Amino acid sequence: MKIEVNQLSKHYQVQRNKKEPLWKLLSRRGYETKRVVDNISFNVEEGEIVGYLGPNGAGKSTTIKMLTGILVPSEGEILVNGIVPHKNRKEHSKQIGVVFGQRSQLWWELPVADSFNLLKHMYKVSDIQFKKKLDLFHDVLDIGSFINTPVRNLSLGQKMRADFAASLLHDPQILFLDEPTIGLDVVAKERIREFIQTINRENKVTVILTTHDVGDIEALCHRTIIIDKGKIIYNGDLDNMKSQFGKYRTLIVDIKTEKPVYVENATIVKVEGSKVWIQFNRNVTNPTQIISSLIKTYEVEDFTVEEPQIENIIKHIYDGKHSTLSNNERVDLDYGIN
Ligand SMILES: Nc1ncnc2c1ncn2[C@@H]1O[C@H](COP(=O)(O)OP(=O)(O)OP(=O)(O)O)[C@@H](O)[C@H]1O
Ligand SMILES: [Mg+2]
Repeated sequence: MKIEVNQLSKHYQVQRNKKEPLWKLLSRRGYETKRVVDNISFNVEEGEIVGYLGPNGAGKSTTIKMLTGILVPSEGEILVNGIVPHKNRKEHSKQIGVVFGQRSQLWWELPVADSFNLLKHMYKVSDIQFKKKLDLFHDVLDIGSFINTPVRNLSLGQKMRADFAASLLHDPQILFLDEPTIGLDVVAKERIREFIQTINRENKVTVILTTHDVGDIEALCHRTIIIDKGKIIYNGDLDNMKSQFGKYRTLIVDIKTEKPVYVENATIVKVEGSKVWIQFNRNVTNPTQIISSLIKTYEVEDFTVEEPQIENIIKHIYDGKHSTLSNNERVDLDYGIN
């Protein structure tokens, strides 16, 4: 059950920048092609959980929609277990489950039980399998406590659990999750994460998920693919991401001084009382050098080095600094991708 994505793109015709004169906007030239997904390639192997990450508007949901067959690619190919999603949607829907955290796929007015029955019918799920699945969902998602409630009356967490159950009734081998924990409280998030881990471990379900939640990434993702402005800027495991992107470290120094602090080859990023946060590039300098330079001028009382947190690394990747570089430079300087 392999997912192969080859030079995939999605273009939209969008209106040109509104600052242009109205006569231009009214003419055909007022439109331009926006490359929302721009020539991306990646594979996902059976049983993997891959985090598909990127800032708002990067093209994540658009990619997921193409993978599920909802959207037709402008260029390139997708093969999911040999099936081209948009060309064979019926066959494809049997092998995949989909959860969009932003909106429920269940029938709004109907009790959860009715939605499940409809899906059983649509997917031709056997009575035995239906019962088996309902038992499982009852155990691990506690679906029983709201099975007769109309979907519109469910809490966000209950709705998400119902959506997960619905997407797995037909026992798909692949699960696409677009922000599956959005808006949930800490406990509900934890529950969903555990559920994803369980179905991945026990049923070997392959999972691709988009998320803005670092907790999801740390708990779930064997591998991350990061996309920015439609292009893949990283594809690899978390440890590797730390070492590739985490070239910036922070040194927290306790300094007794009235004067502003200056450090060579490093940047002061925060000052709080006598504590100074100094960010440095570990390819350029190191804590020993910084401290020995500081003690020449200031009275240094204490210092610690902060290990790069995944959250900080992702912030750094998302903050867009790299976008001023050309693609080739990006690869050489920062990421060494693929
Ligand atoms: N039908 C459309 N027509 C024109 N532009 C579109 C269309 N659908 C999406 N876009 C644009 O494509 C870009 C990518 O959207 P997409 O929803 O894939 O982003 P995303 O990575 O999922 O972001 P988020 O993290 O906010 O969910 C956005 O700039 C969006 O405005
Ligand atoms: Mg999205």
